[in-house]
Amino acid sequence: MRRFFIAGNWKMNKAKDEACGLVEGILAGIEGCPHVDIAVCPPFTFLDTAAQKAVNTPLMIGAQNVYYRESGAYTGEISPPMLKSVGCGYVIIGHSERRIYFKETDSEINRKVHMCLKNGLIPILCVGETIGQKNDGRTFDVLNSQVIYGLEGIDDHLVRNIIIAYEPVWAIGTGVTASGDQVEEIHRFIRNTIREFACDEVSAGVRIIYGGSVNSGNAVDLLARDNVDGALVGGASLKAGPFCEIVKIAESLARTISIPG
Ligand code: 13P
Repeated sequence: MRRFFIAGNWKMNKAKDEACGLVEGILAGIEGCPHVDIAVCPPFTFLDTAAQKAVNTPLMIGAQNVYYRESGAYTGEISPPMLKSVGCGYVIIGHSERRIYFKETDSEINRKVHMCLKNGLIPILCVGETIGQKNDGRTFDVLNSQVIYGLEGIDDHLVRNIIIAYEPVWAIGTGVTASGDQVEEIHRFIRNTIREFACDEVSAGVRIIYGGSVNSGNAVDLLARDNVDGALVGGASLKAGPFCEIVKIAESLARTISIPG
């Protein structure tokens, strides 16, 4: 059974007092949602505080990026053991904003995935096509290569822990969401791509979540699909109310029986 995973990506937003207030608001708003895995991904500077507030609660903490070495002379970087030591469980890797603005390559992204797994962190591997790639009819090629390179060299038993986030670049922060039908088709394609190098049981168990202008108005259409296992929420995760509404929608649709991949 794949449990829903709903995560908020705060991106480069909030000051410390706002971040504390948001975590507190979310903690109050997610009570009574035992069938959903819930995480927030604040900026590095607030991870420690957020993780302390979330101790002994259902809320889990993720980072938005990481470096692919464990320590050393890499000024300005943050390593997987550092994240682990403050209570992080997840790391967003290969977000399109990092691929586009910071020129992250598939090879760097793959190294980050390996290093996170080695250190007991769950990667949330982001993949997604740009509007140009979509218009050129290259969506499936792009996704195939991002998934294959991103997961290269990872053992089956570790692939099952990874979360894939399909985030079409044209839907991020634009208010334009892919339709539930489009997302289901693409998630099925991603699962089939994983099936090419991992066994059926693993590919059926990997969670594939959707990100791109998710809000409480479109969450039902997206989350009701067989292969949509949650959401990576940007703008709508910056206030407790809208984020918790999405969590509650997931809880109302929660799967309590196994579904085929
Ligand atoms: P928005 O929900 O603001 O479109 O952002 C999506 C996203 O990039 C999550 O990682």
